[in-house]
Amino acid sequence: MLDLHDLEQLDDLFHSMEEANECFLGYPFAKGFNYEPLWRFLKLTANNVGDPFKSATYRVSSRVFECEVIEFFARLFRAQSDESWGYITNGGTERNIYGLYQGRERCPNGIVYFSQDTHYSVSKGVHLLGLEHCVVRSEPNGEMSYDDLWQQAARARHRPAVVVANIGTTMKEGKDDARRIRTVLRDVGINNVHIHCDAALCGPYAPFLTPKPAFDFADGADTITVSGHKFLGAPMPCGVVLTRKQYVERVMRAIDYIGTSDTTLSGSRNAYTPIVLWYAIRSLGVEGIKHSFHQCEQLAAYAAEQLNARGVSAWRNPDALTVVFPPVEERIKNKWQIATQDVSHLVVTPGTTRRQIDALIEAMTTSRMNLKGADVRGGCASRA
Ligand SMILES: Cc1ncc(COP(=O)(O)O)c(C=O)c1O
Repeated sequence: MLDLHDLEQLDDLFHSMEEANECFLGYPFAKGFNYEPLWRFLKLTANNVGDPFKSATYRVSSRVFECEVIEFFARLFRAQSDESWGYITNGGTERNIYGLYQGRERCPNGIVYFSQDTHYSVSKGVHLLGLEHCVVRSEPNGEMSYDDLWQQAARARHRPAVVVANIGTTMKEGKDDARRIRTVLRDVGINNVHIHCDAALCGPYAPFLTPKPAFDFADGADTITVSGHKFLGAPMPCGVVLTRKQYVERVMRAIDYIGTSDTTLSGSRNAYTPIVLWYAIRSLGVEGIKHSFHQCEQLAAYAAEQLNARGVSAWRNPDALTVVFPPVEERIKNKWQIATQDVSHLVVTPGTTRRQIDALIEAMTTSRMNLKGADVRGGCASRA
C-alpha cells in the first residue's frame, strides 16, 4: 500500500506529464488515442521473447498479434508473400541497429553510407557494430546528395555498400530514394549492396503518397523500419523492423532455454506494444490511415502558412507533416518541446489540434518586449 505522500507524488507526476503532453509539438508522437479496452492486459505477465513466428516454451505472449502487425506492414511495403520476416522492437534505435547488423552479415567488409541528416542512432549503430562508415552530404531539403554518394562510393568501388536511406529525416522529413541509390551504386560498379530504409515517421503513410517515395521492398529495400508511436499512435515507443526471411536465417540460433529461435536483438521483448499496434491497425485500417494523414497534412500546411503570414520563414517538404523554421528562442523550445539544431521544427501528428498550433504560433510571434514579466510556465494555451 502506498502512503499519502506516495499517492501525492503519483498525482503530481500524472499532472505534470499531462501538462507536458498538451505542449508537445516538436517531436513526432501521436496523441489523443484511447486504448482503454486494452487496460486489462496490464494485469497479466507477458513477454514476447524469441522469434515471433515460432512457438516457444514461453506462452505468456502476444506473438500471434505481433505476426499480424508484421504481415500488415509487409503487405504495405510490397514484400513478396512468404518472403518477409520482422519483429516489433522497443524503438527506432534498436531497429536501425538491427538493419545495420543484417547489412554487416550480408556485406562483410562493407562501408556504411548515410547522409548527414540521418538520426544519431545510425552513428551509434556503426560504432557498436564496428563498421566503417562514410557520411554523405545532404541537400538543403534534407535529402541525400546522390552526387556526393557517387563521389564517396567511387573511392571504394571494390567494397560492398550498406546504405541507410531516410524516408523522412528527423529534422526536415526529407526522403531519400532507394531506387536512385541502387542506380548510383550500380553505376559506380558496386553490386553487393544492402539498403536499410528508416521510415520511422512516414512508413504508415508513405505508400499512399503521389508520387510514392521509392523505399519499399519492390523498390529495392532490404530492411525497412517504421515507428508505431510516431504516426499510428501508441503510448510508448515501439515499431516494426522488416527484412527478408532468407537474411534472418543467417543469424538464427536455436536456444534450448526458451525453446525457440533467437533472431531478435533484445531477448525479452514487450508483449503489450504488439497488442496496441494490432488494435491501431485493426481500428484504423488503410482508409483510416489515409484519412488521418490527410488531416495532419492540412494542419501542417496551415501551420506553415500562418507562420509565414506572421513573418517567420517556415517551409516543408512536399506532403511533409514537419514544418521547418529558424531556431526558436529557449523559452519556446523548452515550453513546447521544440527540437532545435541548425533549424527548429514542429511535427503535426494525429491528435495535434489547431488550438495547439495557434497557441505555439502566437507564442513564437509575440515580441519579447510584450512578454517582459509574463509568466511563461502556465498552461499551453496561455501566452508564452
Ligand atoms: C528517422 C528516425 N529514425 C530513428 C529514430 C530513433 O527512434 P528512437 O528514439 O525510438 O530510438 C528517430 C527518432 O526520432 C528518427 O527520427
